[in-house]
Amino acid sequence: MSHRSAAAIAAIAVALSSLAVAQAQELKGDAAAAKKKIARCEGCHGIPGYRTAYPVVYRVPKLGGQQADYIAKALQAYKSGERSHPSMRGIAAGLSDQDMADFAAYYAGAAK
Ligand code: HEC
Repeated sequence: MSHRSAAAIAAIAVALSSLAVAQAQELKGDAAAAKKKIARCEGCHGIPGYRTAYPVVYRVPKLGGQQADYIAKALQAYKSGERSHPSMRGIAAGLSDQDMADFAAYYAGAAK
């Protein structure tokens, strides 16, 4: 291998790795952004406590204080069908990866 092509390969590798970093940063959860779209979760993952008020009272997992990673993975799992709860599947199906990251950041930092 010539020096030149080795340098080119190194440059490509650097470019690719910085691209990966940029993508990871893009998916950083933004708790402030989540606040604007959290209304559709709060009806069930309500405050205070963690029960639904409507249509019937049933237990819903408490999200506040859970690990952001766990929350994001749970949402991915509902979306993919790996987790099968019908209401959460319906909700997660409409979420983008960014939404999931935002909600995860929000709930991980929330006490409720
Ligand atoms: C219609 C009621 C309802 C709404 C609205 C709702 N959820 Fe849920 N959610 C549930 C129920 C019920 C469960 C428990 C499902 C199960 O047993 O798998 C759950 C589970 C979860 C879990 C997994 C928790 C755990 O401990 O494993 C996450 C994360 C979650 N919801 C996030 C959200 C987010 C984010 C929103 C808003 C985009 C939302 N939910 C909106 C009812 C709801």
